[in-house]
Amino acid sequence: MSRRVTVLNGPGLGQLGTREPGVYGDRTQDELAELLLSKAGSLGLELGFGQFDGEGDLIAAILAENGRSGCLIVNPAAYSHYSLAVMDALRAFDGKVIEVHISQVLAREEFRKKLVTAEAADAFIAGMGFEGYLLALEYASRLLAAG
Ligand code: DQA
Repeated sequence: MSRRVTVLNGPGLGQLGTREPGVYGDRTQDELAELLLSKAGSLGLELGFGQFDGEGDLIAAILAENGRSGCLIVNPAAYSHYSLAVMDALRAFDGKVIEVHISQVLAREEFRKKLVTAEAADAFIAGMGFEGYLLALEYASRLLAAG
């Protein structure tokens, strides 16, 4: 299976660093991408990275990885809670899917406890900050090694 892993962030995650730092921390998305790039290098993975505010753009980015990435690490942000379209796109993706949330969504407002896109994921991580993405990358590496 392809050793390419693509990380896709949904709406608002481009504002990491200034957006609700008490919830999401004060590090930026560029810092996240750098951490992931370095980790991917040490794991022998090729890394793709993208952030999309629009639902259609996120869906197109998911589907564009079909036959290209062996695994997607996706944080659909608010779409996680209601987008059947993003869920369907993840189901249509032909590799593994790991959904990541920076915050512990199950310990926040009621509406965040409904997780729609996670139903299409093989694994789910929430509440570990940026560390969640790095752990997801390690797990992706193991999944891809197992074939
Ligand atoms: C988030 C949690 C979502 O509820 C929220 O809409 C986000 C970020 C997280 O990473 O914790 O935008 O996905």
